[in-house]
Amino acid sequence: MIERLEWDSAFFGMGVGRLHAEALTAEVASQSQRWCRENQVACLYFLGPEAGEVPPGFRLVDERVTLVWDAHPVAGPTPAVRPFADADLPVLEDIARQSHRDSRFYADPLFDRARCDELYATWIRRSCQGWADAVLVALCDGLPAGYVTCQHGAIGLIAVAGAAQGRGLGRQLVTAAQDYFHSCGATRVEVVTQGRNRAARALYEGCGFRVASAQYWYHYHACA
Ligand SMILES: CC(C)(COP(=O)(O)OP(=O)(O)OC[C@H]1O[C@@H](n2cnc3c(N)ncnc32)[C@H](O)[C@@H]1OP(=O)(O)O)[C@@H](O)C(=O)NCCC(=O)NCCS
Repeated sequence: MIERLEWDSAFFGMGVGRLHAEALTAEVASQSQRWCRENQVACLYFLGPEAGEVPPGFRLVDERVTLVWDAHPVAGPTPAVRPFADADLPVLEDIARQSHRDSRFYADPLFDRARCDELYATWIRRSCQGWADAVLVALCDGLPAGYVTCQHGAIGLIAVAGAAQGRGLGRQLVTAAQDYFHSCGATRVEVVTQGRNRAARALYEGCGFRVASAQYWYHYHACA
């Protein structure tokens, strides 16, 4: 099954779709090519198991790693973290614009960098405006320097501004999110990151998360 992604198409200014299939076989690939041609789709996303041989036109853009944490009371202090306040938003948008360069959109030259920056600014803005159940903000010298979003038993987006990294704010954000989920009665918390994101993986594993599964994102370029 292939669907056109209307939101992504409008946002990136090109036809974008998503292929749903068990695996990326040569037959699936040739059907995809035909469908993209007929539907003016420039890029097709596919999430699935690792393909032995990647068919022409497709490229591996991300290893999607899911980590889980079985909720229990957490002990770590989180003095630098507090709930989001409306005045934080412009700073959080700026942090988001600069922070998610390990994601699959930046790994694919078809996607305009400035639009990728705006994708994450939009994501944090919408999260702050009600998408997320909670947004927690880390402060550095009294100013917002990082965020974590919590939604449906999962950490959504997390980042610490470059200049404030390596000082324990990421750990405080994850710990505060774990405390939030535990206090809400969650029994299991998930987070997804990129296989290439060593900092994020080390952070989550250091906070008690364990790798549960890995899948692979492929992008098909109709013009390849
Ligand atoms: C991941 C991120 C939030 C960590 O924030 P941080 O404030 O620098 O993290 P901390 O200082 O609290 O470090 C916590 C742990 O993370 C790990 N870590 C942080 N940066 C690391 C790096 N560059 N390489 C390897 N491990 C790293 C370490 O295990 C560290 O534990 P330690 O202090 O015991 O050594 C930050 O690097 C970031 O914002 N990255 C860009 C956004 C991003 O990739 N988000 C995740 C998307 S899913």
